[in-house]
Amino acid sequence: MIERFRRWIFSLQGKFILVASFCIFVFTLTGSLIIISREERLYRQDFINQAKVISEISRLMLTNVMVYNDLGMMDKQDVVDYLDYYIMNLMEQDRRIRYVAVIDEKGNILAHSNISEFGHLCKDEPTLKTLSTLSTSITESKFKDDSVVNIAAPLNISTKNWGALRIGLSTKEVQESIDGIKKERALIVIFFSIISLTIISVGAKVLAKPVIRLSKIMDGIKTHGDLERQFPVLKDRRDEIGKLQNSFLWMLQRLRDADKEHKKTMEVLGQTEKMVSIGRLASGVAHEINNPLSGIALCFKNLMEADLDDSTKERLVHAVNDGLEKIKKIVEQLLDFSRMSVTEKTPVNINDFITRLLVLFNYPASKKEIKVVNDLSGDIPEMLMDENKMAQVFMNILINALQATDMGGTLTIRTRPDNGFCTISIVDTGIGIPPDILPNIFDPFFTTKDVGEGTGLGLSVSRGIVEQHGGMIEVDSKVGVGTTFTLRLPIS
Ligand SMILES: Nc1ncnc2c1ncn2[C@@H]1O[C@H](COP(=O)(O)OP(=O)(O)OP(=O)(O)O)[C@@H](O)[C@H]1O
Ligand SMILES: [Mg+2]
Repeated sequence: MIERFRRWIFSLQGKFILVASFCIFVFTLTGSLIIISREERLYRQDFINQAKVISEISRLMLTNVMVYNDLGMMDKQDVVDYLDYYIMNLMEQDRRIRYVAVIDEKGNILAHSNISEFGHLCKDEPTLKTLSTLSTSITESKFKDDSVVNIAAPLNISTKNWGALRIGLSTKEVQESIDGIKKERALIVIFFSIISLTIISVGAKVLAKPVIRLSKIMDGIKTHGDLERQFPVLKDRRDEIGKLQNSFLWMLQRLRDADKEHKKTMEVLGQTEKMVSIGRLASGVAHEINNPLSGIALCFKNLMEADLDDSTKERLVHAVNDGLEKIKKIVEQLLDFSRMSVTEKTPVNINDFITRLLVLFNYPASKKEIKVVNDLSGDIPEMLMDENKMAQVFMNILINALQATDMGGTLTIRTRPDNGFCTISIVDTGIGIPPDILPNIFDPFFTTKDVGEGTGLGLSVSRGIVEQHGGMIEVDSKVGVGTTFTLRLPIS
C-alpha cells in the first residue's frame, strides 16, 4: 500500500495532481483571506460611522438642553430628568448601545444608564481628554463580556463647553457578521478545492492514460526482451501523445527490422562457421586416415604382387597392423569427440590422481629442466569421474604445456575447492598462444604442430570429456608469458 502510494507520488500523474491541488488551495486561501480582511475593515468602518451618527445626533440634542438650562428655561431637576429619559429612550431604540453617560464640564456624571454611577466623578481617560480638548474620541474596550466601541463627544458650541457625552456600542453583531463571512469563505475554499481536485484528478487520469499505456507496452517489451511481442492497437491521436505514439511505433519497427537483420546475419555467420568446422574436420580426418591407408595399400600391393621372403612378409604385415592401429586410434578419438563412447564414473581423489599422472612427466620435464610445482588443496572431497577419460584430458594438456615450454620453465598444477566445484589450473611459462588462433584451439584437427606430431584432436576431445562430466574448460594465454588452462569440475 505504502509502496503503491510512493510510486503514485513519483509518477507524472501524481506529481501533477499534487502540485496543481496545492497551487489551487494556496491561491483560493490567499484570495479569500484578502477578501475577508477587506470586508472586515468595511464592516468596522460602517459600524463606527453609525456610532458617530448616533453620538452626533445625541450631542446636538443634549447641547440644546444645556443651552436651555443656561438660559434658565429648564431647572436642574428637569435637565436631569430629561437626560435620564433621553438615555432610556436611546438604549431602547438601539439595542447595540451598552451604556450612555452625560458628564458636566467639571467631570461629574450628570446622568448614566447605570443609576449607581450618578453623581460620581468620571474617571474615564478619553472622556476627560474630550472635556479638555473639545474633540471626539473613539476607543475600543471591554464592557462586561462585550467588546464595545466607545465614543466620547463634547457638548459644546464653539469654545463654550457644557460637558461630554459618552456612548458604548457593542460590536457583537458586527463580529457575528464577520465570523459568518469567514465561515462562508472557508466553505467556499473547501468546496472549490474538492471540485478542483476532482477535475484535476479526472483530467490528469485521462491525459496520463495513453502515456501510462505506452510506458506499460515499453516495459513489457523490456521485461520479456521480445520485440515481436504483440500489444493492443493504439488509438490514432492528433495531439502530442499521438506524436509520441507514432515515434514509438516507428522506433519499434526500426528495432524489429534491425533485429531481423541481425538474426539473419548471425544465421549466415553460424552456417559459415559450421561449414568451416566441417571442412576442417573432413580434411583432418581425410589427412589422418589417408596416410596410414596409403601405407596399408602399398603393403598389400607388395604382399600380393611380389615374391617375398617370410621376414619381409612379417614386416609388411606389422606395418599393415600399425596403420590399422593408427586408424583405430583416430576413430576412437573421433568417437570421444562426438561423445559416443561410454563413460564409467568412479569416486576419485583428484590430488592422488594428479600426483600419479605427474610421475609420468618427471622424466620429460627434467630433460628440459622444467620445474614442476604441485599446489594441491587438501580440502577437496572425492569426485565422480571416468578416470581413463580424465587421464586423457590431463595428459593432453600437460603434454601441450611441456611441448610449449622452453628449457628452464615452470609448470604449476593447482587444485582449489570453489563453491561446489573443483578448479584445476595447469599453468605453464611457455610460448603462449597468439590471440588470432586462441579461438580455434578447441576445434577438431586444429594444430600448429608439424605433420605427424599432433592430430589437433587433443583439446576438442578434452573439452568433450570435461563437458560429459558437467564441467568446463577455459584458457587464458599471453604470448611470451605462458598459458593457463582452467578446468572446473563439479564435486558431487
Ligand atoms: N600450453 C600451450 N601452449 C601453447 N600452445 C598450446 C598449448 N596448448 C595447446 N596449444 C595450441 O593449441 C593447439 C591445439 O592443441 P591440441 O591439443 O588440440 O592439438 P595438438 O596438441 O596440436 O595435437 P594432439 O593433441 O592431437 O597431439 C596446439 O597445436 C597448440 O598450437
Ligand atoms: Mg595436444
